[in-house]
Amino acid sequence: MPHKRLFIPGPTEVHPDILAAMATPMIGHRGAEYSELQKRVTEKVQKLAYTSNPILFSASSGSGLMEGAIRCSTVKRAIVFSVGTFGNRWFEIAQGNGIPADKHEVEWGKGLPSEVVDEHLSTGKYDCATLTHSETSTGVMSDLEEMAVVFRKYPEVVWCIDAVSSFGGVKIEVDKLGIDIMVTSSQKCLGLPPGLSLATFSPKAEKRAQGVRNRGYYFDLLQLLQFIREKNFQYPSTMTIPHMFALDRQMNRIEKEGAEARFSRHDVMAAAVQRWARARFALYPDEQYASRTVTCIKNTRGVSIADLNKELGKRNLMLSNGYGKLKEQTFRIAHMGDVQMSDIEELLGAIDDILKLK
Ligand SMILES: Cc1ncc(COP(=O)(O)O)c(C=O)c1O
Repeated sequence: MPHKRLFIPGPTEVHPDILAAMATPMIGHRGAEYSELQKRVTEKVQKLAYTSNPILFSASSGSGLMEGAIRCSTVKRAIVFSVGTFGNRWFEIAQGNGIPADKHEVEWGKGLPSEVVDEHLSTGKYDCATLTHSETSTGVMSDLEEMAVVFRKYPEVVWCIDAVSSFGGVKIEVDKLGIDIMVTSSQKCLGLPPGLSLATFSPKAEKRAQGVRNRGYYFDLLQLLQFIREKNFQYPSTMTIPHMFALDRQMNRIEKEGAEARFSRHDVMAAAVQRWARARFALYPDEQYASRTVTCIKNTRGVSIADLNKELGKRNLMLSNGYGKLKEQTFRIAHMGDVQMSDIEELLGAIDDILKLK
């Protein structure tokens, strides 16, 4: 079967160099060579996340470290701020782990005003809060700078961010913003195959975790940290070593492109897709909250997304229908990872052609 170029919001396209890195012959996960690999990757990720905090890795997709984050950060009660499906996932994780938690969910397509966050935190009920940066189901992006102003007022609250569909495509200055835990997955803006996740971990989050009695096992963030410190950048179980080789090489590619250039490329692609969506359909999220990595488009013409994708498939292209309850009402175009403006132009041109929009 010929490969269809992916414009779905993860997994994204993987560059042939990265696929080749995945096929590097294995090394042992308890040797110096592995330690050097994880240390090297850590330093590169720290640079891209603008942080000096440790980088925790997990041989799981991002949901795993989301579980670890909320579980290891809550002693009193967590507040989950949700702008869609993945916000709700934090809450489901909390419930599944018996973590006391409340959820504030906004109407889908709307963003989360920082005043709402302030209101909840000011009750003093919470010691952990979770936020989704780019909500892949609704195409809503939260303004982290605005949120940071609020979080600074509540030093007792450990602030966890789901940056699964934004890290590597949008600038997130972890230390400047004061984010305690920022979780991301390999298969989105980082442009790797799925199966690896990583998180930044602040000293405040570490201290909190020390007070949590049941941190679980596989996603015990303190155990991940302990293996980094005591075993010189190793992982408690067997790491997905192919992903580490791939991330090492991908971080070099990102460095070569330049982080700022990478973020601008994402901005330019987002603006182009949003412009097209406004002219042909309508944006699903409120304008001011439109994500810079994935655009969720209202299916105002009532086209069959399945049929559209079938036609796009003949041209070896693929986009995504809406998520969950938005399946028929919306469709989504991802502009993240290693996708270039020329790819976006080709996709939008193909849709225009198939639907006779021009
Ligand atoms: C915003 C967001 N959060 C969390 C997840 C879950 O990540 P993973 O599939 O890597 O577990 C996704 C996956 O699509 C996502 O888009």
